[in-house]
Order: sequence, then structure tokens, then C-alpha cells
Amino acid sequence: MCGIVGYVGPKDCSEVLVSALTKLEYRGYDSAGIAVFDNGEIKTVKTKGKLKDLEDKLNEVGKPGGNVGIGHTRWATHGEPSDVNSHPHSGARVTIVHNGIIENYIELKEFLVSKGKTFESDTDTEVVTQLLDYKYNGNPLETIDDVMAELKGSFALGIMFKDFPDRVFAVRRESPLIVGVAEGESFIASDVPAILKYTRNYYLLDHDEIATLTKEGVTFVDEHLDPVEKELKTADWDMEAAEKGGYPHFMIKEINEQPEAIKTTIMPRIKDGLPCLEECGITLDKIKDFNNITIVACGTAMHAGMVGKYVIEDLARVPVTVDVASEFRYRNPIIGEGDLVIIISQSGETADSLAAMRLAKQKGAATLAIVNAKGSSIAREADMLIYTLAGPEIAVASTKAYTTQLSVMYLFAFELALAKETVSSAECKRLVSALMKMPEAVQYVIDNCEKKCKYIATKLITADSLLYIGRGLDYALSMEGSLKLKEVSYIHSESYAAGELKHGTISLIEEDMPVIAVATQTDVIPKTVSNIVEVKSRGAKVILVCTDICARELKDDVANYVVEIPHTDELLMPITAAVPLQILAYYTAVNRGNDPDKPRNLAKSVTVE
Ligand code: F6R
Repeated sequence: MCGIVGYVGPKDCSEVLVSALTKLEYRGYDSAGIAVFDNGEIKTVKTKGKLKDLEDKLNEVGKPGGNVGIGHTRWATHGEPSDVNSHPHSGARVTIVHNGIIENYIELKEFLVSKGKTFESDTDTEVVTQLLDYKYNGNPLETIDDVMAELKGSFALGIMFKDFPDRVFAVRRESPLIVGVAEGESFIASDVPAILKYTRNYYLLDHDEIATLTKEGVTFVDEHLDPVEKELKTADWDMEAAEKGGYPHFMIKEINEQPEAIKTTIMPRIKDGLPCLEECGITLDKIKDFNNITIVACGTAMHAGMVGKYVIEDLARVPVTVDVASEFRYRNPIIGEGDLVIIISQSGETADSLAAMRLAKQKGAATLAIVNAKGSSIAREADMLIYTLAGPEIAVASTKAYTTQLSVMYLFAFELALAKETVSSAECKRLVSALMKMPEAVQYVIDNCEKKCKYIATKLITADSLLYIGRGLDYALSMEGSLKLKEVSYIHSESYAAGELKHGTISLIEEDMPVIAVATQTDVIPKTVSNIVEVKSRGAKVILVCTDICARELKDDVANYVVEIPHTDELLMPITAAVPLQILAYYTAVNRGNDPDKPRNLAKSVTVE
């Protein structure tokens, strides 16, 4: 999704903007640009392509020299990636950058055309530029407020008015935006990593608030233009956490960070050997009467929800429905008072997940958010909140966010089972103790399986298509393994419940087609093995991820390659079994020459529908 930055201060603004934009590259983009007040005039340089292309262009045409400006990386929604569709967009008196979607841009455009305005680009953003220009009354705050009242959809905007060369304005509705502050300078950004080089102090802009950045500092007003006092936040991770730290890619760095991330996430939530989620607003009393749970999320987060379903149903005997947020929000779901809706989201800004949560609240359900990004919209609006403490996840493909989401799902399932009295305190303690061993188990898998997975990945690079199979929890995990591989390697891949193959999908199997089977659940291993034999005898090349116990019992030729992982409590196996699947995906992408951190067409934070 688009990235926004802005700067007011003593430094060379062009340099600050480009440097800050590099920290937002992970969001995915196809063009970039900056606009800076240069001797009282707004000078804009923008181009289709990457930041390197922008830097080349800046060298070619000359960097604007000045101390006040805005910048943007664009992920195309309205109009193809091109120089003209790139941001910033300018009217006669105003220049803006935008993240989000203006849903009523067609009717606004028609109105503006009827008033004689002309448009250069195909973007919805230019409509905002022209509307600001049209409504401008000499008072920027009143003008912005007036325009906001007309806009439908989501937006975060950085705005400069030609008449006010000493300031940048910022406003947001739904799309994320923070305001960073340091001595004598201030910043706007779509995400914290963009400002970490300069400051760790920032404000979260609320919906429909307007920030004014000047050399003297930052002021905020609400939609009635009344001043707002805001709480200054401090980022609890630093530049190093947002840098590659010697790894070639963020994805492999984040895979390696999982033991620490899981530990950081679970340890503060365990007391006397039992889960303790009081600080997250969760007590036994508060959750004991939930008899119906829906988990809503997108992509990887939804896959964490699939594991959550198996675990909650197994331990707490409460029925759980898992739904994709974009479907849930439009299907009039049957939920209401007394029900619990769990929203899982790394970014906390995913438009569909946010809308799903609001719908759940509207229908009277209680909401619990499992979120990684502090202070994000979903985190702020949920009734109960458990943060995954994974630190910044920069690679587009989610890894440590997934395993920390799983860890939180386990803690919640244990707590719910206690509340429902479906497990004893002693059994719960045993489960918690097994969970506490997971950081070590994950570290073991990383240390012992990376080499083998790297080798197996060399066998996958020429595949056109793959299947992932498993049963029960292994099936839930296969979904994530398959998504991971396809999103970074661009090889078509599907996950299937192993027992379902013979009802149609097995006809796809042909000589040398890779099938990745996950078998960690002892009670269904013989069944999964039968399914493996079925595909292998039809020519499939089988890669089996299984426990050491399972590997010992299998015949040598059951699979072409076996990745053994240590046997832990079986309910917890998805945490360790996820790791080889992540590593396989990573090396397959690298072997195919792809950048695993920025897969084509994808964005890290999906703030549009
Ligand atoms: C895949 C991936 C996505 C996200 C999905 C939801 O690796 O990262 O599928 O899981 O876009 O994003 P969040 O968790 O930010 O709501």
C-alpha cells in the first residue's frame, strides 16, 4: 500500500524524505515522488519505478533544496503505474500525497469538471487536490475540514498549501498516519520505521484529526477545529529492529527472530504456570459465558485463526467459525450479544478486518483483537486486546507475526478451557509449560532444518504447481505453508485436506509434481501416509515434514525427502512445523531470483478493500 512521509525542520528535506521512504518500501509500491518548498515554490519530482529511479531523476533534474516537504511511494489502485499518476499531485495552490481510496471520487470529479477543473491523472487522489483548490478560502484548516466532510472512503493525506511555505498539514480517516517529533523538527509517516532514524517519539493521529507541522512544533485539531491534546508515544523498538542486521533479507531475519518473538509474546502473559491475560482485559469470569466464537482475519492471520479453531474446539469445546474478513463483512453474519468475535491482524490496519470488527461490534458481539502494530486502528477499537510482541515485521510475507499469533491463540484457548472448566488447572499448567518450551524448539528447528530445506528448495524451482496436504492441525498449517510458498516464489500452490484429494484433486498429480505433506498428529499419521502413498505412486515427488517419532516409524521410501522436527506437545506442533515451510518458501523464492521481501503485486498493509 502507499507510503506517506513529510518533514519540517532544519535538515535537507529531499534527503530526509527519500531516506524515510526507503523504510516504507516494504509496504509495496510501483512509483515514488517528493514535493519540497524550494525558495517559496513547490518543486515536485516523481517517477514510475523504485526509489532508485526517483534518486536518479533527482540527480538528473536537481534535488529541490528546502526544509519543508512531503513524499510518497504509490501502490497503484486508480490508474496504472506511471509518472503522471505518481504522487505528489498539485493544483494551483495545493500539493498532496495520499494513501487510501476515495470511494466517491467519480461524483466529485464530475462536480469539479462542471466547475471548470481539469484533470491530468487517472487517480482518485487528484480529485482531493482539486477539491482542496476549489474550496480554498485562505485558511488551510477550514479548507481541509470542509473537504473532509465531502470525502467518502479511507485516506491519509500530507498536504502543502502554496501560501504557507513553512508548514505541512496531515489528516487521516481509516488509513494509518503518525506524526513524529524531535527537537526543532517534525515528521509524518505511514508507519514508525520511517522516522526511527530521526526520533522514537510520535503521536497517533486519530480519525478526522488535522495536524499542523511547523518548525515550532506540532498542533492538532479535531473535526470541529477545536484543539486536541495528544499523548506522546515512544517506539519501543529501534532502528536495528527495523534493519536487516546482517541477513540478506528481512524474511529470513524474521524467521530467525521467531524464538525471541514467541518468548517475548508469551512470557508476560504467564503467572504461576497459568495463562494470565488480565492486562489484556481478559478474565475467566469475562469469557466463561462465550458459547460461540468467530475468528475473522485475512491471509496468514486467517490461517492462524484456523489453528485457533482446532485448539479452542479441542480444549474448550466451544464451536468456532473462521471467516475471511472480506466475506464476513458482506454476508450478514449470524452473531450478536453473548458471542465473541476474534480479529487477528499483524498491521491492525487491514481495511476488511477493521470493517469486520466494526460490524461485529454493531451486532452486539464482544470483540477481541490479536494485533502486532501498537496503537493501530483495530487495536484501538477492540473491546479486548492481546498484542503479539513480535516487533516490526518488514518482509511482506508474514512469518514471526504468524507464530506469535499462534502463541496468543494457544494462551487464549488455555484460558478459555480453564474458564469453561474443560481442562483442569494441572492440565493447563502442563500445556503452558509445553508452550514455554516452544522458543527453544523453534530455535532447534531453525538450527537443524535450514540446510536441508535450502537443499530441497533447489528441487522446487522448476515446478509449475505444488500441493500441500495434511489432516487436522496439519491441514490448517498446510494452508499457511502453501500461501507462503506461492506469494514469494510465484509458483502455483494449493493446500488440501489430505483425505479430500481423492475426491477430485488427485487428477492433477503428474510425474514429478511436488507434494508437501505435513504429518505431526500421531492419530492421523497412518491416514496421511496412505494419502502420501496414493500421490507418490502416481508420480508425485513427496516432501514430508514430520516429527522425529513419525520419521522413525516410516518406511524409507515413503517420501522423496523428509524434514524431521522434534516431537512436542501435539497441539503445539504447528508452531515448530511452520518453520521448515517458511524456510522452504524463502529459499525457493531466492533460487528463482525473486525478492522475498517485496513480492510482486503485494503490499504489507492492505488498507484498501
Ligand atoms: C501473507 C500475509 C498476508 C497478511 C494479510 C493480513 O504473508 O502477510 O496474507 O496476513 O494481508 O494482514 P494483517 O495481518 O496485517 O491484517
